[in-house]
Amino acid sequence: MHFTKRFIAEAVAAAVGFLVRLASRWVAGVEMEDALTRAEQINGKSIGAVLNVLGEHHEERDSVETTVTEYLQLLDRIEERRLDACISIKLSQCGIAIDQGYCSDNVKRILAKVKSLGGFLWIDMESSKYTDATIQIYEQCLKEHPLVGLAVQSNLKRTEEDVRRLLKQGGRVRLCKGAYREDPSIGYPKRADATRNYSRILKVLYEEGDNFAVATHDNSMIEEALELSKKHQKTFEFQFLQGVRESTAIELAAKGYRVLEYVPYGPRWLAYFMRRLRERPFNVITMFRSLVSG
Ligand code: FDA
Repeated sequence: MHFTKRFIAEAVAAAVGFLVRLASRWVAGVEMEDALTRAEQINGKSIGAVLNVLGEHHEERDSVETTVTEYLQLLDRIEERRLDACISIKLSQCGIAIDQGYCSDNVKRILAKVKSLGGFLWIDMESSKYTDATIQIYEQCLKEHPLVGLAVQSNLKRTEEDVRRLLKQGGRVRLCKGAYREDPSIGYPKRADATRNYSRILKVLYEEGDNFAVATHDNSMIEEALELSKKHQKTFEFQFLQGVRESTAIELAAKGYRVLEYVPYGPRWLAYFMRRLRERPFNVITMFRSLVSG
């Protein structure tokens, strides 16, 4: 079979266009403006936004600098437009793979800006390779500004202990199940085990913590959180990823719960998109159907 260069170029362009349309469910867009527009839209539904610049594992200082600058500008735009929005950063965007001290300095640059604007900074948790370093940098940040939170993952065996220690320091955590495959010696590869641990840590948060985020789309965990909140008067919020269980997010917000949506954006959307697809391969079929049926 013989394909012309033009045919191949058109086929590749069509495939990329198709992927972009699929990804647009989970990603606000390529430009900062896309994320700000999404934040404005969900603010209109009483949902706050947690904005994240896509792209991770920077091993060059140039890419780190570009991302840090993007976050600093993003904070200015959030302030100018008076959005109900904050940012969530990844330490691998700030240079953790290059040097921990360098990374910590970059995080502190972002934190200083957040602090000057009286805002909130979330730090995502990545693979277990960086758990210790991430917690150490988080603890340093917490000493400088109380309004900084850290994502913790119930698919890691260490997390309950980490959470108890962080709570004693006034730490604020976002409890999620974990998006990275971990070795059974340190993690719970089966979702059911990660969910059981989620439930255990949720109890710790309501009994011993305050000001935390319940980040899950799992109805049974959302129900447990709602039950626990009846017994324990704590300040907490629900967090969802853009494009997942939106109707539940809207319902909870309408009932008066604080709800935030994690809104990722940027040209480097492919890795994030693949992570979301891996979590639920069935999405490919449902999204394909929605595209075909218009
Ligand atoms: P689970 O995966 O068990 O899914 C429960 C149900 O939710 C599914 O049965 C399905 O109905 C629905 N669902 C889940 N994922 C879906 C999808 N992609 N599309 C459609 N439906 C879906 N992880 C991490 O390692 N570090 C971090 O910093 C963060 N940060 C973060 C912030 C926020 C706001 C959220 C909501 C999640 C994260 N995560 C994360 C991701 C998290 O660890 C986890 O991978 C996903 O949230 C999926 O886990 P669930 O708790 O939703 O449960």
